[in-house]
Amino acid sequence: MKKLVSVIMCMILVLSLGACSQEEPSKSDTKATAQTKDTTKEPAKEEAAKVDEPIRVGFSQLGAESDWRVASTVSIKGACEEAGYDLIFSDAQQKQENQIKALRSFITQEVDVIAFSPVVESGWDEVLEEIRDAGIPLILVDRSTDNPDDSLWVTFMGSDFTLEGMKAGEWLVDYLVANGRDGEEINVVELQGTVGSAPANDRKAGFEEAIKANANIKITKSQTGDFTRTLGKEVMESFLKSGDKIDVLYAHNDDMALGAIQAIKDAGLKPGEDIIVIGVDAVKGAFEAMVAGEMNVTVECNPQLGPQLVEAIEMLMNGETLPKWIPTIEGVFPQETAADELPNRQY
Ligand code: AHR
Repeated sequence: MKKLVSVIMCMILVLSLGACSQEEPSKSDTKATAQTKDTTKEPAKEEAAKVDEPIRVGFSQLGAESDWRVASTVSIKGACEEAGYDLIFSDAQQKQENQIKALRSFITQEVDVIAFSPVVESGWDEVLEEIRDAGIPLILVDRSTDNPDDSLWVTFMGSDFTLEGMKAGEWLVDYLVANGRDGEEINVVELQGTVGSAPANDRKAGFEEAIKANANIKITKSQTGDFTRTLGKEVMESFLKSGDKIDVLYAHNDDMALGAIQAIKDAGLKPGEDIIVIGVDAVKGAFEAMVAGEMNVTVECNPQLGPQLVEAIEMLMNGETLPKWIPTIEGVFPQETAADELPNRQY
């Protein structure tokens, strides 16, 4: 009998062990099963991981030469952070070779998107082709290049610099008429931006176009101030030292205009009165100078491109087609609007 009982017990044990393998797996089995599942469905796992990974953006900023540039950097970094992107930001300190190095390192790091503001217009052909060959979409921010093949970038977002120059020239023509000075010999000195940069080339061309019907308005001196306050002051000092009559200063950005204002004051003259001062950018400092009566007008160039960049990247990631140019909408702020506008300026 005892023998029979132990035989039955053994059978029950064997049967129950067999049943165990058909039922709910134990904790350690779950891990094993999951591991097995992972191995068999590797591509799906990779896809899921990709969806969760933040978008990796490589941004090459050209430098920090002006208040405008600093505001542009703040806008880009802020918008990318808010969007949860993994931003690899590089400051080229005004050197094209540094930008090219940064762009190549973005390629090596296999970022999802590359964006950059080219310090000058020319000399990008090779690296742009490398970016295209790597299959990484490229967005030009603020400045474009002179490469005629616009299929090398997805979109360019930024200002119409020629239009900005034209607005500055048109304002001057209208101002002279409004102040009974049309027909008078007017000598303009020009502080150009960075040599070879799109805003320097285009703002010069736009201004010249706007004044060309007025033979009395002449650009008598034109030199680069590299978009910086320091050089704006130095170059204006040398213009003033020449002793030649100067009626108008046209600076390709506000920082140079603000440096030049200091030079005008140091020379014992009244900026905004003895010399008409025209700037571009519409940074806070220009509004303060206008409120003080030391500057006459600033043409807006909007640096807050971060939200637009994020919007473009989102569209790109969703497979949407972007327009080749996303223009920035900008105004003109003459001195009489400065006091009202100053509290609204964020940069
Ligand atoms: O490209 C935009 C220009 O670059 C801004 O007008 C100037 O201030 C900056 O340095």
